[in-house]
Amino acid sequence: MQNNFWFSADKIMKILVSIIILFCNISAFFSQDNPLIIRTKFLPDQLWLDNNGVHLNAHGAGILFHKGIYYMYGEHKLAGETVGKIAVHCYSSVDLYNWKDEGAALMTSDNPNSEISEGCIIERPKVIYNKKTNKFVMWFHLELKNQLRKSGRSGVAVSDKPSGPFEYLHSVRPNAGYWPINVTPEQKASLVEAQKLAGTSFIGSPHPDRAALPFMARDFAGGQMAKDMTLFVDDDGKAYHIFSSEENATLHISELSDDYLSHTGKWARVFEYLWHEAPAICKHDGRYWMLSSNCTGWNPNAARSAVANSIWGPWKDLGNPCTGATPRNHLGPQLTFGGQSTFILPVQGKPGAYIVLFDVWRPENLIASGYVWLPIRFEKNRFSISWLDTWDLSVFKHKN
Ligand code: GAL
Repeated sequence: MQNNFWFSADKIMKILVSIIILFCNISAFFSQDNPLIIRTKFLPDQLWLDNNGVHLNAHGAGILFHKGIYYMYGEHKLAGETVGKIAVHCYSSVDLYNWKDEGAALMTSDNPNSEISEGCIIERPKVIYNKKTNKFVMWFHLELKNQLRKSGRSGVAVSDKPSGPFEYLHSVRPNAGYWPINVTPEQKASLVEAQKLAGTSFIGSPHPDRAALPFMARDFAGGQMAKDMTLFVDDDGKAYHIFSSEENATLHISELSDDYLSHTGKWARVFEYLWHEAPAICKHDGRYWMLSSNCTGWNPNAARSAVANSIWGPWKDLGNPCTGATPRNHLGPQLTFGGQSTFILPVQGKPGAYIVLFDVWRPENLIASGYVWLPIRFEKNRFSISWLDTWDLSVFKHKN
């Protein structure tokens, strides 16, 4: 009898413990941090866990949609600016809310003499798919190791599969020996004078002393400086590399070759001496729309927007597209909610629906940088972006 009693008490205790464990598991499962939770909404600038429960590590990202799956490629950050073993991290998703870790898309090289050995800086990777060659092509901003961000090069890598691994090909300073399509006789004439600037480098933010220095002519022979960048593929399959150049003073729009692996030499200067960074482009209703930032390093500034009938311009400045109430006044629309643009994503199956991707840089620990994704609202001759604490793709349901 007594034995039976103790047996039962023991059993009851075990059942109680099991219930407690179950309860803990259930509450952990439903807590925000559980990676197993299926996300059904966007939560701008909150921790964004992947399928392993790790905050997404894909900064300055771009997204490619291929055969029903979105692939996101971004900078794999450590605490500081330089790259470790993994250079570009890839994630995949079918719904844009939940992201599966696909691992390293691009690794740094073990060869210390490689342009992409550990310690270099690789930023703003973007991947496009080339239908003719059946290759996935990645371009990124490359700063060589120990060169204090003075190299301003563009790296290119290819893969047969969207998730990689990508094979590094080489880096270039674009358009060496080619004048832009909108070059002026004065710019051509400045070639000799510009040689005085050979070897100079600046920190890349607006400054009256270098308001209109002939950086483009300085770099004519050796190739143009290429920093913050994006890629854009037009309806006709032509691809463009858009990047901050001339010490960040002027944006360059440059056509890529049919295989997307090099520049054709056809290019234009836009927003001359207006210091645009972080360009992102989409095409909507037959026009080209650009989002970009001002030039203040890791610190947020007011976003910029523009529209053009041709990718070559002229581009019409539309001012800051950010509006609306924000959770923190000091990081409101004037500071782009604390973010800096990196990409405009067309939502598949929803014509007219676009999401803008911003990075919220945390320079004291870059791996902790956040993500602000918000819907774009197109009006007749402009577009706007409003802060939302939380939202989902149903915001687009009334779009055409
Ligand atoms: C920002 C740029 C970032 C990164 C940073 C370094 O202006 O957009 O991608 O290069 O400067 O200071």
